[in-house]
Amino acid sequence: MTKKFGVIGYPIGHSKSPVLHEAGFSEMEIEASFEPIEVHPDELSDWVTNVFPDYTGVAVTIPHKETMMKLVDKLAPAAEKIGAVNTLYWDNEAIVGTNTDCLGALKALQTECPELSGKKVLILGAGGASRAVIFALKNAESQIFLWNRTAQRATDLAEEFEIETIENLKAVSGKNFDVIINTTSVGLKEWKSPVPEDFFDAKNIVFDIVYDPLETKFLADAEAAGAITITGDKMLVYQALEQFKLWHGIELEPEIMEQAFLVSPNE
Ligand code: ATR
Repeated sequence: MTKKFGVIGYPIGHSKSPVLHEAGFSEMEIEASFEPIEVHPDELSDWVTNVFPDYTGVAVTIPHKETMMKLVDKLAPAAEKIGAVNTLYWDNEAIVGTNTDCLGALKALQTECPELSGKKVLILGAGGASRAVIFALKNAESQIFLWNRTAQRATDLAEEFEIETIENLKAVSGKNFDVIINTTSVGLKEWKSPVPEDFFDAKNIVFDIVYDPLETKFLADAEAAGAITITGDKMLVYQALEQFKLWHGIELEPEIMEQAFLVSPNE
């Protein structure tokens, strides 16, 4: 029987999940479908109870990641700590909500920086994506510094995760850090960076979670300084690979999904 998978959001048009997972199905000859599922927030609870039982697994995206926490039978520790669910799967009769963004971020970073323990990492932004990145790097025992445009959000998050804050970006530079990560939306469909052009140092490893465009101003400035860069498709691909492992028990080669990402146009 064809197994059913999908990605649920509102609206859902732009999700890359179907393309990534379908590439895995055809590589591994898995008989399955992966559809975009648009569900209004008011109908989410009904959908989980009455429609999800037809599915083997579902990816969860904006704006349902936080609400889904209350609708599942069990929460994995990562989802609990991050405060968001991005993946649903079954454990016998129970619906489990987990979050693969943290492992996605970790594995993306490890493509260029395998040893993150003790590394000084500057994280820009304090939204949902930032929580997943902080959680991953806390587990990896990095020394984390957090900056956010709205300082209070950074202070609150720093208290929760027991990390340090940077209040004024002008008072620091790339020289003070090993790794620098942009989790803000600055640079998404625009040629802007959250840090000054001359911020970076040649010894930096610089990661942008924005993937549209793939080459952001943030990464272009880092590259101009001689830094090593990691593009945003890596996090997307590695979090999808973790979902693939959960749903099918298969560790897919990253290249399969990376290639699928690169040939599917951004909107
Ligand atoms: P996500 O869940 O995708 O992380 P979010 O919760 O809306 O999205 O968070 C967006 C992040 O981008 C926040 O850190 C936001 O900063 P504020 O907390 O100050 O709003 C950051 N951000 C968005 N636009 C920005 C801008 N022009 N300059 C700096 N930071 C910006």
